[in-house]
Amino acid sequence: MSIVYNGFRKKKMHGVNNLEIVESEGYGMRKRLIGIFTFIVILTGIVILLPKGTRAEAAVKISAKVLHMAKGQTYKLKLTNAKSTKKVTWSSSDSSVASVKKGRVTANKEGMAVITAKYGKKVYECSVSVSGGTEDSLIIYFSATGTTGDAAAKIQEAVGADIVRLVPKTDYSSADLKYTDNSCRANKEQAENTMPAISTVIRNLDQYSTIYIGYPIWHGKEPGVIRTFLSKYSMEGKTVLPFCTSGSSGISGSMQHIRDMAEGADVKNGKDLTHSSVKDIEEWIKKGNEISVKSDDGGYMAENMKMKIGNKEVDVIWEDNESVKALRELVGSGTVSINMSMYGGFEQVGEIGTSLPRNDTQTTTLCGDIVLYSGDKLVVFYGSNSWSYTRLGKITGLDRAQLTELLSEGNVTITIW
Ligand SMILES: Cc1cc2nc3c(=O)[nH]c(=O)nc-3n(C[C@H](O)[C@H](O)[C@H](O)COP(=O)(O)O)c2cc1C
Repeated sequence: MSIVYNGFRKKKMHGVNNLEIVESEGYGMRKRLIGIFTFIVILTGIVILLPKGTRAEAAVKISAKVLHMAKGQTYKLKLTNAKSTKKVTWSSSDSSVASVKKGRVTANKEGMAVITAKYGKKVYECSVSVSGGTEDSLIIYFSATGTTGDAAAKIQEAVGADIVRLVPKTDYSSADLKYTDNSCRANKEQAENTMPAISTVIRNLDQYSTIYIGYPIWHGKEPGVIRTFLSKYSMEGKTVLPFCTSGSSGISGSMQHIRDMAEGADVKNGKDLTHSSVKDIEEWIKKGNEISVKSDDGGYMAENMKMKIGNKEVDVIWEDNESVKALRELVGSGTVSINMSMYGGFEQVGEIGTSLPRNDTQTTTLCGDIVLYSGDKLVVFYGSNSWSYTRLGKITGLDRAQLTELLSEGNVTITIW
């Protein structure tokens, strides 16, 4: 026989009284309720004790970090997610250039000013550039690490245009730009043709008839910020001059997209300005931005050397080097077929059958890169690897997903003719 006393069961075994802990139903329920109550009390305590800034509140942001205006224009800046607009204090570093009242900015005269919004202990800034309304050309650029910004400054020196930087709403951290990591933000945006939000506002685009658009090459094409810009602003009736900086790929892989997006514009052949001086830029502009046999970006289009992966013809920008010239000679007026093997989950490699001149340098390859390995092997990448290679070219016009599909599903034959 056993009797339940508030959770203890008294058992008589072999004539000895034993106490055994048990949970009666009523007791278990009470314990659970106490547990839930304690949890709620602790949680409430944590929330109350947390400093205000760390509670889950939507981050306060300024509606534009860069504002480009013509003299006489106004624009209303806002602090989004600020609970009380009355608590925002607005000021300008130079009211004679751009004054501000309750967030409304007025462009007074040509120059630069920084508008500041103070909210609580934090300060939010917007750089305002005011044009006199006399310039006819505008340089618009996006630069994640400064190289394209330098090229844009050189164009400004060469042609004296107004200039405006495209700023993404969420800046790119170095982890976001780590292109060796397939899942980094920039790689994902390029693979999915994303259009990230921008916080640059251009109020006076109508004033300009010539627009220079600059960007770094990301995976063979323009970055998402440029896609966003061209989807928001019409280029109709304008002359557009694309320019870029890159590791080596050049601008060609982005040109068709720019032409498609800048509907109604006269889009000139673009130029890779990575290694260009102000003098080179003056020459480029004087020449009317036309390209000759040599491609706009310093690589040879080699339009008479074509390549197929399996049955699919792909566009290639070939490098301007001795190895590519030797490959061109080898192909002659015939066909070279190379049996490739998948390797390492990121490349296909195959024997060319002869040695080509090599000038190997330590290289981190990207999706679409074609390189010469050990002088006699062709390698095509759908992922990335760091090794000593000689660059041969870059496949353009296909994104990572398309190249991965072409190259990762079994050994292929590459045909060059
Ligand atoms: C995500 C990412 C992808 C890139 N893809 C390429 C590429 O396909 N070809 C190339 O030549 N360089 C590539 N680069 C190198 C940049 O184009 C080059 O460093 C450029 O000058 C950077 O310009 P910025 O400093 O204005 O951002 C890539 C860089 C990043 C961050």
